[in-house]
Amino acid sequence: MSETLPTLAVIGGTGKEGAALALRWAHKGYPVIIGSRDPERAAQKAAELNTALGKQAIHGLANADAAAAAQIIVLSVPYTAHAETIAAIKAAAQGKLFIDVTVPINPADYRTVHVPEGKSACVEAQAMLGESVKVVAAFQNVSAVHLKKLDHSVDCDVLVCGDDEAAKAQTIALIEAIGMRGIDAGPLMNAVAVEALTPVLLYINGRYKVKGAGIRITGFAPNDHA
Ligand SMILES: NC(=O)c1ccc[n+]([C@@H]2O[C@H](COP(=O)([O-])OP(=O)(O)OC[C@H]3O[C@@H](n4cnc5c(N)ncnc54)[C@H](OP(=O)(O)O)[C@@H]3O)[C@@H](O)[C@H]2O)c1
Repeated sequence: MSETLPTLAVIGGTGKEGAALALRWAHKGYPVIIGSRDPERAAQKAAELNTALGKQAIHGLANADAAAAAQIIVLSVPYTAHAETIAAIKAAAQGKLFIDVTVPINPADYRTVHVPEGKSACVEAQAMLGESVKVVAAFQNVSAVHLKKLDHSVDCDVLVCGDDEAAKAQTIALIEAIGMRGIDAGPLMNAVAVEALTPVLLYINGRYKVKGAGIRITGFAPNDHA
């Protein structure tokens, strides 16, 4: 009997990182809904991605409707829009796995670490959403430049932080489904360090003229998930 895959809502899925993640999961058979502040824009992006996929696997809805229609929510918006987007989907997120990709970048200086008032975007998300929502940090260090190319394997690891073991395991399974290695990197508070690595990578991109630098954890074999 084939397993039914959960529906994923990618909030901010009209953007670079969210669209690339939506494409990857839809390619692997997951039902995906792209959320946007504008449902028309979501539908247009979904149509564009479906053309690239060669199948109708992605739908587009307004953010709150997308979040309500999915079992798992992925949030991928600029930090400046983080709190207002969470407020718009808070009711629909209750009881669900909530994967937050947001990095608290300072748009005026995106290559220098910016620690927000609540220490981390993911920690702030958990405080805003309440206990019933299982917030997990993932993909902060994975560039859309690589993710969006379906014929290209993404040569980096994904650090996963969260306070709920089952939610982290579910997130790691979603990462493995798209051919990457998800690594349990500890409690949600460790997202402070993971989010802070992104401006470091953006600095490296500029300094060495590379696109989408990523990270690899050494010291254990690629398939060693003990
Ligand atoms: N790009 C990367 O390579 C990358 C890698 C790792 C992590 N991240 C993080 O992932 C998040 C999304 O990055 P991105 O590059 O995909 O961002 P983006 O393309 O600039 O924006 C993503 C989406 O956020 C929505 N949004 C909602 N409120 C907004 C506002 N006030 N201003 C602008 N956009 C708003 C927009 O969707 P609608 O207009 O349709 O609502 C937009 O398409 C960020 O926190 C970023 O730091 C990005």
